[in-house]
Amino acid sequence: MAKKILISNVLPKEALDLIPKEITVDYHSADAPLPKAELLARLKGKDGLVCHIVSAIDEEVLAAAPTLKVVANVAVGYNNIDVAVARRRGVVVTNTPDVLTETTADFAWALLMAAARRVVEADHFARSGQWQRWQWDLLWGADVHGKTLGILGFGRIGRAVARRASGFDMRVLYHDAVRPEPAVERELRVTYAEPETILREADFVSLHTPLLPKTRHLINERTLRLMKKTAILVNAARGPIVDEAALVRALKEGWIAGAGIDVFEEEPTIHPGLAPLPNVVLAPHIASASRDTRIAMATLAVRNCLAVLDGKPPLTPVP
Ligand code: GLV
Repeated sequence: MAKKILISNVLPKEALDLIPKEITVDYHSADAPLPKAELLARLKGKDGLVCHIVSAIDEEVLAAAPTLKVVANVAVGYNNIDVAVARRRGVVVTNTPDVLTETTADFAWALLMAAARRVVEADHFARSGQWQRWQWDLLWGADVHGKTLGILGFGRIGRAVARRASGFDMRVLYHDAVRPEPAVERELRVTYAEPETILREADFVSLHTPLLPKTRHLINERTLRLMKKTAILVNAARGPIVDEAALVRALKEGWIAGAGIDVFEEEPTIHPGLAPLPNVVLAPHIASASRDTRIAMATLAVRNCLAVLDGKPPLTPVP
């Protein structure tokens, strides 16, 4: 029988063109998630699902789709999917690692640099008509070169962020639940440290852990207060790793100097305390959003889906 897939969010043509004609495609060509009832109805009888992180694939959704064999997420993070339930039901879950590593690391650095050198404030000032002359004390920021970068979560993206730090002659401290081979530490010129040491010593702290029960609110009032008053926090991982209310207080009351934030606890809502603050750079979850990378993510997700429907192992199953 012809296989059927649901694509629950928009995908580029490059990805859609990979799907053979004999497969029946039910395509919701929007960014917005399908309302739950519609998702349940449209998943009925489908063999595969390709979705964005805005689609919550929970127990109810999986139970409504007993014929489903694969959920292909167009993202490296997969906290929108109940992987345990999927496994129990024999549904393969895939994500899109590797293809977005460098692009996401670039963006973490963009946030770091923008927050350190006050690029967004400078842009607003330059456009505002207030600029009178070259000014000695205008928009002083913090140096990046020669400082200490702390990386919490040392998977692919954390390592790619670390690699970029050598061009800035930085000392790099990292922590991860799994410590890599000494050769990796030597190659990347990084030093393993406990999270508290990193928080106390780093001038920049960049988060690269997945969202797990143990990383939810990893950055909270207590841990923010451990950081240097001059430190800058970068989050291009997942919003709930940071307690946003505590971050607002930290930025307002000067527990830390600044932040660059791409992800939020309740996307697309941003804590109302953040937007008025000049010392935070905000972005709408775009760390992987280069044209090439978004196309690579979409094509990898479709390939994963097709492989499973073809009885083959997926290219990138979630670990
Ligand atoms: C985006 O947030 C991703 O997980 O790929």
